[in-house]
Amino acid sequence: MPRPYFYVTTPIYYVNDQPHIGHAYTTILADVLARYHRALGEAVFFLTGVDEHGQKVQQAAEKRGVAPQAHCDEYALRFSRLWERLEIQYDDFLRTTQPRHINVVRAVLQRLYDQGDIYPADYAGWYSVAEERFITETEKDSGAFRDVRQLTERNWFFRMGKYQEQLIKYIEARADFIQPDSRRNEILGFLRQPLGDLCISRPKERLNWGIELPFAPEYVTYVWFDALLNYVTGPGYIADDRRFGQWWPASVHLIGKDILTTHSVYWSTMLFALGLPLPTTIFAHGWWLTGESKMSKSLGNVVNPLDLVDQYGVDPVRYYLTREMILGQDANFTLESFIKRFNSDLANDFGNLLNRVSGLIGKNFNGLVPASGELSEADQEIKAAADGLAQKVADAVAGFRIHEAIDETMLLVRLINRYVEKQAPWKVAKEDLTRAGTILYIATEGLRIAAFYLLPVMPQKANQVLEVLGAVGSAGEWGLLKPGTKLAAHEALFPRLEIAI
Ligand code: ME8
Ligand code: MG
Repeated sequence: MPRPYFYVTTPIYYVNDQPHIGHAYTTILADVLARYHRALGEAVFFLTGVDEHGQKVQQAAEKRGVAPQAHCDEYALRFSRLWERLEIQYDDFLRTTQPRHINVVRAVLQRLYDQGDIYPADYAGWYSVAEERFITETEKDSGAFRDVRQLTERNWFFRMGKYQEQLIKYIEARADFIQPDSRRNEILGFLRQPLGDLCISRPKERLNWGIELPFAPEYVTYVWFDALLNYVTGPGYIADDRRFGQWWPASVHLIGKDILTTHSVYWSTMLFALGLPLPTTIFAHGWWLTGESKMSKSLGNVVNPLDLVDQYGVDPVRYYLTREMILGQDANFTLESFIKRFNSDLANDFGNLLNRVSGLIGKNFNGLVPASGELSEADQEIKAAADGLAQKVADAVAGFRIHEAIDETMLLVRLINRYVEKQAPWKVAKEDLTRAGTILYIATEGLRIAAFYLLPVMPQKANQVLEVLGAVGSAGEWGLLKPGTKLAAHEALFPRLEIAI
């Protein structure tokens, strides 16, 4: 039985640089999932936000010569503004410098300390003064680090190791906890080695941009221990038991595969220690690549999502990203494949179908949706395909196969286009206007249903189609298009891109 609620999260992104298409992707994906679940009638809570503490952010602020908090304020806005442009309908935008979050982190630290799950110990290792961090033996031997010395530092540790067996059993018993399967195996492989305890503090003399440990004020909290707790702060852990009980555990943490270990191992053991249930699913998607390499800030090969949106509009960008990537695998971002998808799926298939039906209804029925008469076998076929779409979409969405949910919908669009070609209502209209009306009703009603199931992916353009059909706010069942409705005038939905690459 599907749960009556759906709580979805994205990673909280570091505010050390501009958001790029990778961040946009995870957030769009979460938004598309959230919108599908809302359309399926579930209560939805969608949390996103930014990760503001730690060395990366402190250094980014220093480099710009601004105070860390001022830097965060400015960069957090870049994310929230981008989400607005991308039509992201989140319920909560969490910043880790907010008092509500700091309270949770400190309460959790105190509780784990009181129950003996946090202890102090000396850590000895190679330390690069220039890099201001501990480095491994291999890094030291590489000779790439200056000012390397042996350093012993007292720090605070979370007894992560003691939860290793519990975690292995937990993962083994649940096929849907870590997805896809390849990632689940990766984590089970990782857990074959003994799991050490986690250093969760940084001495303030090295790093002071963080949440102070409640039991040791000369230390701040390690940024990952702080950040992961955002997932319980959002729905009201400690602050609001009723609300928290309503949403926790999360249905899915959507993440990229770079942060799989922190989520599957650190976070799960933290939740064990707190006696809280684990999220139903941690889903790690693959990379957007440019050429052979991961798109990343440090490689400088990032695509700026705002540029794309400015040039092509928000819906094609959302469509391309969610249709092109098979969730769990890597995908290559190229302008060529973007334009190809735009022209074939959006201009030729979806946009063209709207043009056709509205043009034919305009010409033959004064722009009024005709009534449907008796259905032929070919008509029944379209009706059956449209009726079957709801289940197909629901199954694909439940299995995180968003590309498939989209593809099933586009298959219907193509089926209707072929149907219109074959039925040739422009010819039929000359002899039998009633029959032509039935054909156009079937095609238009099929288009309405396809547009309804594309709303989560293309909230603007799919809604425009519904506007033309006078069907905004209608549902996914067959027969809701009202004969006699006056079709609204419209421009081409997706004018073909004539760009030579
Ligand atoms: O890791 N392809 O933040 P971050 C696809 N603050 N997705 C990509 C991507 C790419 N090329 N590049 C980035 C952090 N992403 C932590 C998270 S959560 C408690 C703390 C996406 O700014 C993907 O979702 O480095 C990845 O996991 C995330 O951005 C990393 O964002
Ligand atoms: Mg990163």
